[in-house]
Amino acid sequence: MIRVVFPFSLSHSLAVLLSGAALALTAPTTAQETVSVSALADSENPVQRGLYLATAGNCMACHTREGGDPYTGGVAFHTDFGTIFSTNITSDEAAGIGAWTETQFIVAMHEGKSADGSNLYPAFPYPSFTKISEQDLKDLFAYLQSIAPSSYAPPDNDMGFPFNQRSLMSVWNALHLESGRFETDASQSPEWNRGAYLVEGLGHCGTCHTPRNALGGLQTDQALSGGTYNDKVEDDKIRPWSAVNLTSAPDGLAAWSEDDIASYLKTGHGSRGGTFGPMNEVITLSTSQLNDGDGRAIAVYLKSLPPIERSPQHKMSDTDFRAGELLYTIHCGTCHLPTGLGDPSIGPPVAGSSVVQADDPASLINVIIYGAEVPTPTPPGAWKTMEAFGNKLDDDEIALLSSYLRSDWGNRGGPVTEADVDKQR
Ligand code: HEC
Ligand code: HEC
Ligand code: HEC
Repeated sequence: MIRVVFPFSLSHSLAVLLSGAALALTAPTTAQETVSVSALADSENPVQRGLYLATAGNCMACHTREGGDPYTGGVAFHTDFGTIFSTNITSDEAAGIGAWTETQFIVAMHEGKSADGSNLYPAFPYPSFTKISEQDLKDLFAYLQSIAPSSYAPPDNDMGFPFNQRSLMSVWNALHLESGRFETDASQSPEWNRGAYLVEGLGHCGTCHTPRNALGGLQTDQALSGGTYNDKVEDDKIRPWSAVNLTSAPDGLAAWSEDDIASYLKTGHGSRGGTFGPMNEVITLSTSQLNDGDGRAIAVYLKSLPPIERSPQHKMSDTDFRAGELLYTIHCGTCHLPTGLGDPSIGPPVAGSSVVQADDPASLINVIIYGAEVPTPTPPGAWKTMEAFGNKLDDDEIALLSSYLRSDWGNRGGPVTEADVDKQR
């Protein structure tokens, strides 16, 4: 049996350690053998290949609570319908999935049904995982079954009636689950298809980057055009983030090249921006450990997405524009420059930035209030940090400044109000 040792701890609110790290795979009988996860995509050993797939699917992020052992669950997901805790997916027969058959695991991943037939909640991204191939799930299962059993039992869910009725999810599934495997598009390159498989299926990028309807279902006609992610910062405090538009719209990744995207996903650094906020965990635990081919494939696929424009054009009054511009010149212009184009050695462009232009300004406001919280140690070549302005600027100033950023240099995005800023405090 292979035991996987994770050389880092997890935090769900702050920056996480490490980028591009090698995980140590150690067989108990031999001396420690260090294998980089990125080398395991084509391994003939199902457990090793499964580790690669688990990394691409970032199973660990959602199934490891702060201070807990990997995959033992207990992470709280706060939804509009109540709080759901992720499960223990170690090989423990009682607390985990050690007694599951491979078929039961495949049904859980494809259909969102637990081993006893009850419905799972879509905080578990089975609407994306339904696209994962059967072979990949077999290897994923082999890997999970190799994880040392833990008897830890996550807390019970805290859901009010009727949402505590799992049977209700059958209705939800009928409306929102498009069950079925990923289908290769023969008119596209193998690289494009690989990228689509990773983004839409295993990598479940849409879980955060696709908007949801009132029932929490992904709005597939608006896929990847921007969504909301609620980060838990303290026991009872949620900080919303806008997960930006990843389509090739001007308020999305129009300004990013394939190289920019591939580099950002691999190292947490790219000429268009660096990692901070909820992407820290996605990058450190998942995309930085993919092989270069897979990183490139994701970039190729994202760049091919037809633009879905979400943010309106907006014109400020001349007085407000000049007041916003003045705040920018005083506090931001040294690093992001009067042109908004930034400087490769100081700060990324804000002109054409998807964070600045996102329909929902939550992430833009967060960056200004809290600065850019980057992972420690910082990724190689990372931008220097950006300080927090939350104590220096009032809410009305941050609103004005944000509105200005969304109006100059051809940027778009609706006006930002004091109430928008207050929501992020
Ligand atoms: C976005 C967060 C998230 C990600 C990513 C995620 N899970 Fe989960 N998973 C959950 C939550 C939450 C539950 C509990 C759902 C419930 O109780 O209805 C769950 C439940 C499960 C279950 C059902 C366990 C049971 O006892 O019924 C399995 C199996 C599972 N996850 C496997 C995986 C695998 C494998 C991956 C990676 C490919 C993964 N999960 C990635 C959040 C996640
Ligand atoms: C847990 C939620 C979550 C998941 C999953 C997620 N993202 Fe993000 N992503 C965000 C948020 C929030 C932002 C904006 C703030 C930030 O950078 O953290 C973002 C920003 C980005 C950016 C733009 C960065 C910038 O500075 O403009 C790119 C590119 C990106 N994500 C790609 C991806 C890809 C590709 C995937 C799937 C492999 C993915 N994301 C999965 C939440 C997520
Ligand atoms: C000392 C230099 C510096 C100053 C001053 C500064 N920033 Fe930044 N800013 C940065 C750096 C560096 C980053 C990239 C951080 C990262 O992604 O790791 C950044 C990132 C950003 C981003 C995210 C861009 C993207 O698309 O990912 C926005 C928006 C932003 N800054 C706005 C502002 C505003 C508004 C001000 C003034 C209140 C400001 N910055 C002041 C250095 C600075």
